[in-house]
Amino acid sequence: MTWSVEVRRAPDPGRLAADVRAGLAKTPVEIPPKWFYDEKGSQLFDEITELAEYYPTRTETAILVEHAPELPHVGTLVELGAGYSRKTRLLLESVRPALFVPLDVSEEPIRDAATRITRDFPDVEVRGIVADFEDELAPLPGFDGDRLVAFLGSTIGNLTPGPRADFLARVFRATAPGDLFLLGADLVKDTDRLIAAYDDSAGITAAFNKNVLHVLARELDADLDPDDFDHVAVYDSEHHRIEMRLRARRDLVVPLLGLEWRISEGEEILTETSAKFQVEGLRAELAAAGFAVVTTWTDAAADFSLTLARRV
Ligand SMILES: C[S@@+](CC[C@H](N)C(=O)[O-])C[C@H]1O[C@@H](n2cnc3c(N)ncnc32)[C@H](O)[C@@H]1O
Repeated sequence: MTWSVEVRRAPDPGRLAADVRAGLAKTPVEIPPKWFYDEKGSQLFDEITELAEYYPTRTETAILVEHAPELPHVGTLVELGAGYSRKTRLLLESVRPALFVPLDVSEEPIRDAATRITRDFPDVEVRGIVADFEDELAPLPGFDGDRLVAFLGSTIGNLTPGPRADFLARVFRATAPGDLFLLGADLVKDTDRLIAAYDDSAGITAAFNKNVLHVLARELDADLDPDDFDHVAVYDSEHHRIEMRLRARRDLVVPLLGLEWRISEGEEILTETSAKFQVEGLRAELAAAGFAVVTTWTDAAADFSLTLARRV
C-alpha cells in the first residue's frame, strides 16, 4: 500500500519565537514541551520508552495487548501525537483499518512509522499529517462514524486543565457521532516512582529535557549552552503533576529575540508538566467535552489507564 505525509503546519521558528516571548513573560519562564521534539528529541523520547524506570510505555502496551482485541473494526485509525507509533501495531491488528493517520508535530517519526507500517500491514494505507494538535484538527481523513482516534502515552498530561479542555473540544469538533476516542493516561501513584520515571539513572531524560536548549540555539540563534543547566524533575502534589525544569548552574545573560534574557544561578525554566490522573476525574473531563465513556481499562496495579469513549 502507499503512504504519504501532508505537512499542515511545520514547527517554524516564527511560532517558536512567539511561544518563547510568551514564556519569558511568565514566572518561572516556560517553554512548551512540543519544542523538545525535533528529530533528535523524538529519538531521545523513543529511548526513554525503553528505560527500566519509565513504566508508562510497557504498562500501556500490556493493557493494549489484553484489551485491544475488544475494540470494534473501524475504517480509519487516527493517532494524535503518534511519535514512532510503536504500540499502534496492537491497534492495527485489532481494529483492522483501511487507513491509518498518524499526526505529530515531528515529521521524522511519522515517515519512519509509515515505511514500517506499510511494509508490515500491506492492506493499510498510511496518510501522515505533520501538525500541531493545539491547532484545529479538522478535517480528519476517513468517514464520519467509522474512526478510532487514539491519543496514547499520556501526552494528554502535558496539557494543563484549560488547554486540556480546549484540546478535547477540538477532538470533539474534528470527529462525528459514532467515532471512538481512546485515551491513554498515567495515574496518580507513589512519588518516588513518578520522579524516577522522569529522572532516570542513565540520564536520557536529562538529555531529552536539555534538547529544547539545542532547539532554541539552532532555531533562534540563542547562545545557550546545555552544560549551563541541570535537569530537575519534581512532583507537585497539589496539582498532581510532575514538572520538568532546567536549573541554571550560573548567572547567564542570553541575547535572544532582540532582548537580553537574564537568568540567575539556581533559576529554573519550566519545560514540561505531566499531569497524573484519577480515573473518575478523567472520565468526567471526557463527559464534559461531549463524549460518552464506554469503559476504562487499567493494569492490575492501576498504574496506567486506557479509556474508550464514543463521540455523541
Ligand atoms: C510523550 S510523546 C508520546 C509518543 C507516543 N504517542 C507514545 O505513546 O509513546 C508525545 C508525542 O506527541 C508529539 N507532540 C507533542 N506536542 C505536540 C503538539 N502540540 N502537536 C502534535 N504533536 C505533538 C511529540 O512529537 C511526541 O511524538
